[in-house]
Amino acid sequence: MLNINKNFKKLPGAYLFSTVARLAEEYQKAHPERELIKMSIGDVTRPIAPSVVRAMETAAHEMGTAEGFRGYGPEQGYEFLRSAIIKNDYISRGIELDTSEVFVSDGAKSDCGNIGDIFGIDNIVAVCDPVYPVYVDTNAMAGRAGDYKEGRWSRLVYMPCTAETGFLPELPKTSVDIIYLCFPNNPTGAAATRVQLKKWVDYAKDCGAVILYDSAYEAFITDPDIPHSIYEIDGAKECAIEFRSFSKTAGFTGMRCAYTIVPHELKCDGAELNALWNRRQCTKFNGVPYVIQRAAEAVYSPDGQRETRAAIEYYLENAKIIRTALSAAGLSVCGGENAPYIWAKAPKNMGSWDFFNEILNKTGVVTTPGAGFGPSGEGYIRLTAFSTREHTQKAMELLGNIL
Ligand code: MLT
Repeated sequence: MLNINKNFKKLPGAYLFSTVARLAEEYQKAHPERELIKMSIGDVTRPIAPSVVRAMETAAHEMGTAEGFRGYGPEQGYEFLRSAIIKNDYISRGIELDTSEVFVSDGAKSDCGNIGDIFGIDNIVAVCDPVYPVYVDTNAMAGRAGDYKEGRWSRLVYMPCTAETGFLPELPKTSVDIIYLCFPNNPTGAAATRVQLKKWVDYAKDCGAVILYDSAYEAFITDPDIPHSIYEIDGAKECAIEFRSFSKTAGFTGMRCAYTIVPHELKCDGAELNALWNRRQCTKFNGVPYVIQRAAEAVYSPDGQRETRAAIEYYLENAKIIRTALSAAGLSVCGGENAPYIWAKAPKNMGSWDFFNEILNKTGVVTTPGAGFGPSGEGYIRLTAFSTREHTQKAMELLGNIL
């Protein structure tokens, strides 16, 4: 008799951003006259850089010729892109990698979720709290999170990131095997310095844990003390997998291209995790389209760098506008300086969902309730800097009026 994966039944409600999108849609239906301003999901608004578009056009034409046509590509990504990634994102920061350690994929979200395939179900998983829900939900689906009771999963180790901890996690007090870290952080926008990250690398090496390091937002770092890659820390290749993405860096949310680094030094149970991930990808994934990989390669061209950097500066300016406006309105804020997210404390001890609803109902601005990111997110909302300048300014004006 057919069975379902019962872990799915344990999941509470819908995926956070789907719930927020549904509520925004319901509000818009009830108030068709109001303009909806989305500052919720971190989806980009600047168009794809012209040099990247040209690379796609060229690649699309190639695909229409007998000589240039390509069918299945390598599951790990084309050599030209893997080499460009190493040269531009790693060698430039003094990190040596081999192309066999780079796995091109269709998204950091997919990779952060799929990586669980190579780890045993019994492992104890530690997550920051608040946290990007993908890490939690995918472990729950796999059966690694235990049961969900009163807003917490029984087998997960939560590492609170609160105003008291500077929105950074402290080392777990109990033994853990898999540690998800995301810096610059989604959702709080906090960033970790080299010294802070070294503490994690030393800890993971000491206890034989693996760090799953999501650095999808590294392009937004402005402070020279903040590392862009965990491999800037000595010893990290022996204990960390790193996830990167072109989504926020180059506006690829609708194009789908990312990559994951699995160093050969990283071993467990006598196996290289690189070999396991390679086996997993070859079996379940058929690569990112050639045209998209050529587009990603063009991000590293001099024009591509200049054009994509301009988009990042645009979003960072939005972040500054949000930080300034919310602070002026009396809210405590974190983030927005090395990250495209701003984490704001609701006034008068209001709950996250109440504050979310009040803002939506009074202004038409859609935020993300902090409680959706974990128990320690209660009392906060998250705003994204990925909106247009016009919408960002308008939203801040509207919020200023009600706060
Ligand atoms: C977010 O809003 O947290 C991100 O856009 C989600 C994602 O990248 O999957």
